[in-house]
Amino acid sequence: MNHTNKMLRDCALKGKTIVVTGGGSGLGKAMTRYFLELGANVAITSRDLEKLKDTALELEAETGGMCLPIQCDVREFHEVEAMHEAVIKKFGKVDVLLNNAAGNFISPTERLSPRAFDVIIDIVLKGTKNCILAFGKHWIDTKQTNTSVLNIVTTYSWTGSGYVVPSAAAKAGVLAMTRSLAVEWAKYGMRFNAIAPGPFPTKGAWDRLMPGDLQEKFDMAKKVPLNRVGEHQELANLAAYLVSDFSAYMNGEVVTLDGGEWLKGAGEFNMLSEVTENQWDDLEKMIRAKKNK
Ligand code: HXC
Ligand code: NAP
Repeated sequence: MNHTNKMLRDCALKGKTIVVTGGGSGLGKAMTRYFLELGANVAITSRDLEKLKDTALELEAETGGMCLPIQCDVREFHEVEAMHEAVIKKFGKVDVLLNNAAGNFISPTERLSPRAFDVIIDIVLKGTKNCILAFGKHWIDTKQTNTSVLNIVTTYSWTGSGYVVPSAAAKAGVLAMTRSLAVEWAKYGMRFNAIAPGPFPTKGAWDRLMPGDLQEKFDMAKKVPLNRVGEHQELANLAAYLVSDFSAYMNGEVVTLDGGEWLKGAGEFNMLSEVTENQWDDLEKMIRAKKNK
């Protein structure tokens, strides 16, 4: 067994219908694949219907599950409502909403036009809000319980980060929504949780966050105490647990999956991991010598 193995028992998600926004690529696709393998029906949505259709066909062939591709720009509430209706029409109900769709690119903030800032806020924060309102109100109106929302945020939702300021602001808002609604809507039988991934290479993210030679200049694995980036199946394992009934008592949680990356940047003296054993011998002598002075 290792960290790339599949974690949950077969049929762990049987009978559940899950909607994955941004499910046609990257981490959304990896999570969708595993949900299908575990017996869930999955609807994948994004702006690019051709990509979604290809992904759905590929994953259905691979897993034998049912995957419904639906075009939907999460920025538009009427499109989210239409997407929700299409999923209900096909599968009869929805049990889980996974807000995974995102937009992001690196840029000094002073280079951003108002529209460039808005486009990220609109996809990440407004898009998540649109989906939560459409799905949540339906669950309340129909008295459907044992439902859950899983939001994909980042570790800079709470640390903030330069050069991705719209994304940091939007993800912080999503995290606040997660924790707020975990309390307010628990009475309706809904759970809200989040995952904060560290670096998990995907084409969508790396094209926009690590373009050109940035990948060679800034090796993301070196920022991580465990000295590697994440494997998609590791994230899929955690997501499957969080949307399954095994996590029925987990509500309002954000689970960090980053190999210790953000804490490495935060801890005051973590730079001392560079110090060699010989240097430690000398440093220890210096510190001990101060004791009696
Ligand atoms: C400055 C830019 C820009 C750039 C776009 N804009 N790229 N400004 N630097 N590099 C500006 C445009 O000029 C325009 O403003 C405005 O942003 C909207 O651009 P459009 O191209 O019209 O937008 P759209 O076609 O809707 O595309 C949205 C997008 C694009 C976000 C810009 O990158 C996209 O489709 N992304 C989806 C996938 C994605 O981003 N995946 C990565 C998620 S990774 P003006 O004023 O000129 O009209 C992630 C990881 C986080 O979130 C953590 C990692 C560790
Ligand atoms: P990705 O493949 O680019 O995924 C983003 C998805 O969002 C795409 O499928 C995209 O599809 C969809 N999307 C974008 N705008 C949309 C809109 N307006 N309406 C509907 N869908 C839209 O990148 P990823 O790395 O897998 O990212 C997935 C999630 O993980 C994101 O929430 C991201 O912030 C988070 N995350 C990733 C990492 C990482 O290291 N990869 C780290 C931390 C957090 P279309 O273009 O077809 O619309």
